[in-house]
Amino acid sequence: MSGDREWVVSPSGPLRGTVEVPGDKSISHRVILLGALARGTTRARRVLLADDCRRTMAAVRALGIRVRVPSRARGSGTVLIQSRGAEAWRQPAGPIDCGNSGTTMRLLAGALAARPIRATLIGDASLTSRPMRRVARPLKMMGARVRGRVRHGELYPPLQMAGGARRPIRYPMPVASAQVKSAVLLAGVQLRGTTMVREPVPTRDHTERLLQACGVRVRQRGGWVAVQGPAALRPQRVIVPGDLSSAAVLIIAALLVPGSHLVLRDVGLNPTRAGVLTVLRRMGARVRSRRRAARGWEPRGDVEVSASVLHGVAVGGALIANLIDELPILMVATCAARGRTTFCGVGELRVKETDRIAAMVTGLSRMGAAIRARRTRSGDVVEVRGGRSLQGAVVESRGDHRTAMSLAVAGLIASGTTRVRDVACVETSFPGFASALRAAGVSISG
Ligand code: S3P
Repeated sequence: MSGDREWVVSPSGPLRGTVEVPGDKSISHRVILLGALARGTTRARRVLLADDCRRTMAAVRALGIRVRVPSRARGSGTVLIQSRGAEAWRQPAGPIDCGNSGTTMRLLAGALAARPIRATLIGDASLTSRPMRRVARPLKMMGARVRGRVRHGELYPPLQMAGGARRPIRYPMPVASAQVKSAVLLAGVQLRGTTMVREPVPTRDHTERLLQACGVRVRQRGGWVAVQGPAALRPQRVIVPGDLSSAAVLIIAALLVPGSHLVLRDVGLNPTRAGVLTVLRRMGARVRSRRRAARGWEPRGDVEVSASVLHGVAVGGALIANLIDELPILMVATCAARGRTTFCGVGELRVKETDRIAAMVTGLSRMGAAIRARRTRSGDVVEVRGGRSLQGAVVESRGDHRTAMSLAVAGLIASGTTRVRDVACVETSFPGFASALRAAGVSISG
């Protein structure tokens, strides 16, 4: 997504108060999609009503499912999804536009693979340059007809889906991707038999948890996830937790700006997502999370953070998958930390909404940080030598919401003024980001 809006950020006074971030993006997508596969009415609150999840809502509407956002309850993210089950999905009238949202395209491809429906999935320029072979391959093994644009051995959108998935598979995934895992599971629940996926390392398990809540038999053993189909999904009443990925931006802002103290209410604390908290604690951060008594299907709770003196760490291995979206903001934290940090095995960042390694290395270097990227035999490495003071600069988000927010936080601890260009993309995951910062006491305009 591109846009010419920019933020102007100046060095900040402390962040204080209590913040409620918008609902979790990954979970919101799944609530909408699984609601469309279930028979009956799904009632969800605190659904993220941002561009990406609206694409998923529009997509299932295009497939004949009724999705309502009652206007009197818009502020609470209330969404009602009424479906008569997967069999009720209809041929869409035209292409389904997934916008900037990889999750919409990949999960929807999985759900559609088992439907006798022809659909073309399109996206914006960023999504059109993201790899889809990882999802097309297992779906084709199931019998699905999936076509796309082939270039240098990779498959890119538009994706043309024509149903056909009939065979459950046992699929060891070559890349750690929750989107690919979810696509296979969403096709698998519609097929007769057991569909199994093995992850190289555990990735976010929101799909498994929600499928289970909907009454699907899901088993997890030895790195394999298995679903039993065909399953009749039961509609749910859910309250989506706050998005830990959005919260992480504010948490790190509060850690870095002296005198800050912030409480983030009711955020998702799913261990397959919470790697950022683990790393921050290792860095010496004063972050406390209080898990609420088990309520519903996703762990959640409040997070309290106070400004802290941080030191560098080595981050790598299985943890990377549990903080993949927080790497850009963690890079900012490590620039402000004492000593050296290495992030190893972070190559997946190159195929996100933008090449996030290039965007962060370029942006932070321009602000005076000592950050560089290397390709080694065991993958991409980003190395940061922390402790240098940052100077304000003009930096580019490259149309990516996570790099936009991360560079804005860097601006809070830089001398002078930082301009972050091309920030309309923040609407994909955190509408109201700048207002949330302002409410916490930060000077950011635009
Ligand atoms: C997501 C999975 C991750 C993550 C993305 C959301 C999901 O992508 O980066 O923002 O909701 O399943 P990959 O599956 O490509 O790792």
